[in-house]
Amino acid sequence: MNSIDEHEALVQKCQQRIDADLKPSRAEHTRNVAKEAIRLANKYGADPKKAEIAALLHDIARNLPMEEMNRRIRRLGLEERYINNKNLSHSKLAVEIMEQDFGIQDRELLDAVAYHTTGRRGMTLLDKIIFLADATEPGREYPGVEKLRELTEQDLDQACAYSLRRTKEFIESKGEYLDPDTAEGLEFCEEEIEKKGEHQT
Ligand SMILES: [Fe+2]
Ligand SMILES: [Fe+2]
Repeated sequence: MNSIDEHEALVQKCQQRIDADLKPSRAEHTRNVAKEAIRLANKYGADPKKAEIAALLHDIARNLPMEEMNRRIRRLGLEERYINNKNLSHSKLAVEIMEQDFGIQDRELLDAVAYHTTGRRGMTLLDKIIFLADATEPGREYPGVEKLRELTEQDLDQACAYSLRRTKEFIESKGEYLDPDTAEGLEFCEEEIEKKGEHQT
C-alpha cells in the first residue's frame, strides 16, 4: 500500500466483496469493526490503513456454507480441530481469500485476521486492535462488553486478557474444548501485564 489511491482502491474492493459475500447484519458489523480499528490504531500508534483492511476482511469467510468451509480447511491441510467449527475456521479461511483474491502478502495484516477469534502467544499491536475492535464495536451486546470497552481505552493487554479470560471461563463452564491459541494468548497477555507492573515499581 504505497499511495492513498492504492489504499482507497483496495478499500473499495473490500466493500464490494463485503456486500457480495456477507449477510447485511454481518456487513454492518464488519464496517463497525473497521471504524473502531482505525480509531484504535490512531490512538495506540498502529498503521490505520492496515487496521482498516484487516477489519474489513476479518469475517469475509463467515457466511460460507459449512461444507464449503470444511472442504477448504482440508485443502489447506489445517488441523482437524477446524473441521465443523465455523468459529475457528472462518479466520483462517479469510486469510486464504485475502492472499488469493486480494493479493495481500503483508504477514502482520494476515496474522491479525488469522488470530482474531482466538488471540495467540506473541499477539502484535495490530492483532490486539483487531481482536478488540471485533469484540467491542458499538453493535456488540453481551455481559461484560461495557467493562471491555473501558479496558480497551486504558490498556490493550488488560483488555485482551479480560476478554480471553471470559472466553476461557465460558468454554470451560460448558465443558467444551478450549483452543490452545486462546489459552496461550491469555497467558501471553498476563505476562505482558506483569512485565509492565514490574517496570512501574
Ligand atoms: Fe470473526
Ligand atoms: Fe467479527
